[in-house]
Amino acid sequence: MNNILRYKKLGYVGINVTDINKSKHFYGELVGTEPVESNNSNFAFFRTSHDHHNVILFQASRPGIKRIGLELESPEFLEPAFEHFQAHGLNPYYVSDEECAMFHQGKSFRFEDPFGVTFELYTEMAHMPYDFKRTHTQIKRLGHVVLKSNTIPEATKFYNEVMNFAISDLMEGEAGAWMRLFPVSYHHSFAIFKAEENGLHHVNFMVTEIDDIGRARNRFLRNDVPVVFGPGRHTPSGAVFLYYLDPDGMTIEYSFGMEEFPEENPRQPRLLAASADTIDLWGGIADPRLAAMGSVGEA
Ligand SMILES: [Fe+2]
Repeated sequence: MNNILRYKKLGYVGINVTDINKSKHFYGELVGTEPVESNNSNFAFFRTSHDHHNVILFQASRPGIKRIGLELESPEFLEPAFEHFQAHGLNPYYVSDEECAMFHQGKSFRFEDPFGVTFELYTEMAHMPYDFKRTHTQIKRLGHVVLKSNTIPEATKFYNEVMNFAISDLMEGEAGAWMRLFPVSYHHSFAIFKAEENGLHHVNFMVTEIDDIGRARNRFLRNDVPVVFGPGRHTPSGAVFLYYLDPDGMTIEYSFGMEEFPEENPRQPRLLAASADTIDLWGGIADPRLAAMGSVGEA
């Protein structure tokens, strides 16, 4: 791993939605991320921490991931990171001062990766003067983003070597890779799973207690939110999961618990069987709507 790109965390996800009012209700009332005031009707901010935002919803014509925001460890890493992506031919560009101000972020830059995914790197975001207000669910953090990829070996190599994401585990048959944003300790803040087409697989929020998972299932059943997988337990990370759909049919996950890695001398990546047991130790079967919706990229 290199020390040019040192991440602090997965900062935020920008999600394209087709009916922003419906989605604002869903992410605010049913997921339990906290809405943050904005006077622009084309996007909406939500947070799961003291940050100004950890989710931005954008009104768009098709649902998907607009961009993935990654926070670097400190401001002195921004320029070298920019030059690093420039040297790899990714044509990074700085976000205008007006846009940075509108999004309450310090200097930020973006680029599109070889698979059409837009990343934004930044080091500073406004903090809110009051704590994140948890409601029915004790959301701990925005956990991870998982993408569908039709080029797993190339994508794994790119995210590992160019993005400096450490490999935590791989799935047999080039079926997937779980990665951590070096040197962030969590087993994965990012992952890719094999699919026919590139796209969004799911966005995850980590919760504090197992009751958050059980309560969520009942809340979703009461509110006609499709639960598409779980509750179950992932074998690799030991996390208890629940997958459900947002109003556009994009998959959102709550999970409880995750392995953490030290920066120095982490365990080696394992090659896990591509079997139903790896995905759910409790023997659950995913609904076909799991990960069926969501594109990737700015459009
Ligand atoms: Fe997940």
